[in-house]
Amino acid sequence: MVKHIAVIGSGTMGRGIAYTAALSGYQVALQDISEQAIAKARDYIETLLKTSLEKGYIQQEQGELVRENLTYTTSLEEAVKNTDLMVEAILEIMELKIDVFKQADEWAPAHAILATNTSTMSPTEIGATTKRPDQVIAMHFFNPVHRMKLIEIIRGLDTSDATMEIVRSVSENMGKETVEVNEFPGFVTSRMNCIIGNEAMNMLMEGVASAEDIDKAIKLGLNHPMGPLEMADLVGLDSRLRNMEYLYQSLGEKYRPSPVLVKYVKAGRLGRKSGQGFYKYQ
Ligand SMILES: NC(=O)c1ccc[n+]([C@@H]2O[C@H](COP(=O)([O-])OP(=O)(O)OC[C@H]3O[C@@H](n4cnc5c(N)ncnc54)[C@H](O)[C@@H]3O)[C@@H](O)[C@H]2O)c1
Repeated sequence: MVKHIAVIGSGTMGRGIAYTAALSGYQVALQDISEQAIAKARDYIETLLKTSLEKGYIQQEQGELVRENLTYTTSLEEAVKNTDLMVEAILEIMELKIDVFKQADEWAPAHAILATNTSTMSPTEIGATTKRPDQVIAMHFFNPVHRMKLIEIIRGLDTSDATMEIVRSVSENMGKETVEVNEFPGFVTSRMNCIIGNEAMNMLMEGVASAEDIDKAIKLGLNHPMGPLEMADLVGLDSRLRNMEYLYQSLGEKYRPSPVLVKYVKAGRLGRKSGQGFYKYQ
């Protein structure tokens, strides 16, 4: 039974996964290599607790539960040594993910499941670098984690049924719906989201319409809750570019990153996290 979850990487996704897991009653260790990232994650979680309490989304006791259940560390060994489930949420770079999995494979208990929150990449490739490929899987959460209903679960070639069932049950305990996907680059959601976002960026570059009007058209005309450019700003344009590059390499021309995306990342316009992307933020 899963009681302890180690979340690796405390950025946009890791801090949200840690908060949601702690609120669902799991003991959580949130790890990052950067002290600064840990401090930011702690501030984010404190602010989220405060606003959720004020708005009545959670009760006082639930806030206390989150604080009791959550610990922060910069040591991977410390985070995984007593864990039942690791969820890795570091940068979308295969070599970095493999390093984390190889080390976690040495330090985590034999029964522990090692999951990745990758948006596009192969849990089979990651699992093959460990001694437990049957216990490696992808748990793809969505941003912001505490509000989004879905976890897309991706089986690698050697992922066991037992691993699948445990991960599904943890996802349900976190109040999420799940879909099961057989591994293929970009799964269901990232592949679809990337192609819609890239088309919107190319339209912007071609002068078809302004960013505001492209987003408005897709929201009001196609009933999407967010426009594709707003969505890309939320995801982070650097993350989106890495996703597009991976899909382009693995699936071909259709996924070539829009030149406007490449240019914005070069300029440091990374979306909400840097204060400017397709829109400006305070
Ligand atoms: N941003 C999204 O909307 C979104 C949605 C679903 C999935 N994802 C996936 O989640 C993962 C994380 O994305 P993000 O947007 O949270 O990234 P982010 O850049 O916000 O955070 C990444 C964090 O990982 C830390 N890190 C880097 N190397 C590390 C290491 N070796 N050990 C521990 N920590 C390390 C960094 O310090 C940083 O704090 C990626 O694989 C991404 O594709 C992102």
